[in-house]
Amino acid sequence: MTRKVLFAPSLLSADPLNIQASVEKLEGEHDWLHVDIMDGCFVPNITYGPGLVSALKKRYPGETLDVHLMIERPDRYVDAFIQAGADWLTVHLEADRHIHRTLTRIREAGARAGVSINPGASAELLRPLLPFIDLVLVMSVNPGFGGQSFIPETMEKTRSLCRWREAGRHKYLIEMDGGIGIENAARVASGGADVLVMGNAVFGDGDPAANLREIKLKVKEAITHA
Ligand code: DX5
Ligand code: ZN
Repeated sequence: MTRKVLFAPSLLSADPLNIQASVEKLEGEHDWLHVDIMDGCFVPNITYGPGLVSALKKRYPGETLDVHLMIERPDRYVDAFIQAGADWLTVHLEADRHIHRTLTRIREAGARAGVSINPGASAELLRPLLPFIDLVLVMSVNPGFGGQSFIPETMEKTRSLCRWREAGRHKYLIEMDGGIGIENAARVASGGADVLVMGNAVFGDGDPAANLREIKLKVKEAITHA
């Protein structure tokens, strides 16, 4: 049986003056929409808030919204983002002193709980959290900006998370985010990532749907022959 790999284009690289047009240009080739929330504090960039999530949910109720909070003390905002329509809500381990409580709260409030780690953090830190989560987001660049280069050493964390999932009979998905595109998407998926986030590779040059189709084909070939 072929593994299912999901594709989550990041709206960070969409047209900021016309996000709707960018979403429609995907022509439904995607699985999830990845929404990057940045506070200018946890990361050196600022994006948008629950208002955009709620507008997206209203306009596209059938879309799965994958919301990535790159903010300090995310516990203060999880309810707001879930009310706005986040289906999957991911918070950074480094940004929250009571990460277990926050992840539990996300599930209680009705969303899927994700935890993310920066390239500088060890995957070992995630081990106590594995029974309580639905997704791990392994950052493959330092968060804050699109268009950076993939850090290959982060793949090792994905491989460990795959082993731990099997050994512990956990069910979480493994997502990777940053610097993924036509050159390396197949390798990232073969290495164990279940969800590929891509900004620049989808919304950069050319047609987003065609870019995504090309990447999906490469991934499909790689995982079918694995
Ligand atoms: C980076 C964000 C990513 C970003 C990825 O901090 O979390 O989701 O949009 O962009 P690319 O795919 O261009 O590296
Ligand atoms: Zn992201």
